[in-house]
Amino acid sequence: MADPKILIIDDEEAARYGMVRALKNYSVIEAASAEEARKEVAHTRPHLILLDINLPGTSGLDYLRELAGTEDAPPVIMITAHGSERTAVEAIKAGAYDYLPKPFEVDELRLVVKNALEASSLRRENEKLRAELKAARGVGELLGTSEQMRRIYDLIAKVATTDVTVLICGESGTGKELVAHAIHEQSAHRRNGDFIAMNCAALPSDLIESELFGHEKGAFTGAAGQRKGKFELAHGGTIFLDEIGDMSPNTQAKLLRVLEDRKIERLGGSHSIPVDVRVISATNRDLAASIAAEKFRSDLYYRLRVVEIDLPPLRERREDIPLLAENFRRAYAEKYHLRCAEIGADAMKQLVTYDWPGNVRELRNAIERSLVLCEGRSLRAEDLPEEVNSERVTERSGEIFKRISPSNTIDATELLEIPYLTDFREARREFERAYIERVLHETGGNVTRAAERVGMHRQSLQQKLKDLGLTRRYVITEEAQESDDE
Ligand SMILES: Nc1ncnc2c1ncn2[C@@H]1O[C@H](COP(=O)(O)OP(=O)(O)OP(=O)(O)O)[C@@H](O)[C@H]1O
Ligand SMILES: [Mg+2]
Repeated sequence: MADPKILIIDDEEAARYGMVRALKNYSVIEAASAEEARKEVAHTRPHLILLDINLPGTSGLDYLRELAGTEDAPPVIMITAHGSERTAVEAIKAGAYDYLPKPFEVDELRLVVKNALEASSLRRENEKLRAELKAARGVGELLGTSEQMRRIYDLIAKVATTDVTVLICGESGTGKELVAHAIHEQSAHRRNGDFIAMNCAALPSDLIESELFGHEKGAFTGAAGQRKGKFELAHGGTIFLDEIGDMSPNTQAKLLRVLEDRKIERLGGSHSIPVDVRVISATNRDLAASIAAEKFRSDLYYRLRVVEIDLPPLRERREDIPLLAENFRRAYAEKYHLRCAEIGADAMKQLVTYDWPGNVRELRNAIERSLVLCEGRSLRAEDLPEEVNSERVTERSGEIFKRISPSNTIDATELLEIPYLTDFREARREFERAYIERVLHETGGNVTRAAERVGMHRQSLQQKLKDLGLTRRYVITEEAQESDDE
């Protein structure tokens, strides 16, 4: 955040003075009443509000409720009277981010402020992601802004205006079926016709042929009546032949004839029926290898791939992961009425780091599963499936993450999940430990970079690690050690 602005609302001048001094590293605005504050909020748009509960005129709680009802209101820390736990709870219920009972120590105030600012900055990052998500809608259901996906959108747009036969290749879960749909939907001259999909791996070959080409009454045992095949049903539209690599040699030969003649013959029939169909096929196999192994006809292959669209695996376009993940989070949170409102920074890094052998489908399933298990407002790395967590965050994924999330915030709400200890110093120690561990985790154990990030000298950070008893618990990796020694 460039320069966080904090609005202090308190009718006691001395109280305001104390807080202004404690927060001299921020830019602070003051107001003595809710009435004054309204103008300041509209005018200066503060990032955080410290609100005294006892105010003349509109009370602190009433003003809090008013703020909570407005869009993009900043987080509010309620200043409550000593021993008034009940009002504090009421304030939290009314939407306060946190509360601070009077009298408080300067350090306490600073800590609460810092946490609130970090949490709200993370929230803004997520909002930005959400906005980008809207803009990132590719074609149809397809999402992604990577160079590779943009090239796919271009290809889709180009082939959509023609009737060329398209072969879509890509690993499982890369979105082949979505691309086929998108081509159909974008084809102005075909989208009013039907999109008929057929999975060539699911059925034995004689059944596939009757499905594809239809049959006449009595064509085979059990063929009680005449039936139209998928090619006829797709007339004027698109037929999608999925898993084409699994088609039997016999069916391959028949399909080749249909592609050449643009006519079909129903099983047991004697006349051919012209069909006006665009053919899109898809495979996750290496068809060139199948041809070499004489499992797939090369003449059919060249017929099918007049235009070939190769979908990149997700691990080759990692910059799309945050958008996809956020999209799935939102969709499943809505579907299951879940509280989880964001993906925490460390979870997102793991998502960007993992290799996703099952591609976007696996990512979608992982988000669905983790959301259901997630108990807080923020999805944490611990909530993710084990395999996603097993990979160590690399420099590269850190870079991708930084590009996406320039403020590089730490989700302080997670750090606050420390037990409420009676001793303030003990609580602060707990916080420091969690905070430093997190930063070190994010820099892959590199103490120099961790120190840079938190604005400390390396020696001081190392001392701190010792004081907190973290040196032994934290294994500094060789790689990190090397760059530390530079
Ligand atoms: N680019 C994308 N944007 C958004 N969602 C996607 C994208 N690619 C894939 N998906 C999601 O992944 C799921 C799987 O996609 P799809 O069925 O198109 O994959 P596929 O390549 O046909 O996989 P398979 O080879 O296993 O059939 C989709 O339901 C969709 O939710
Ligand atoms: Mg598929």
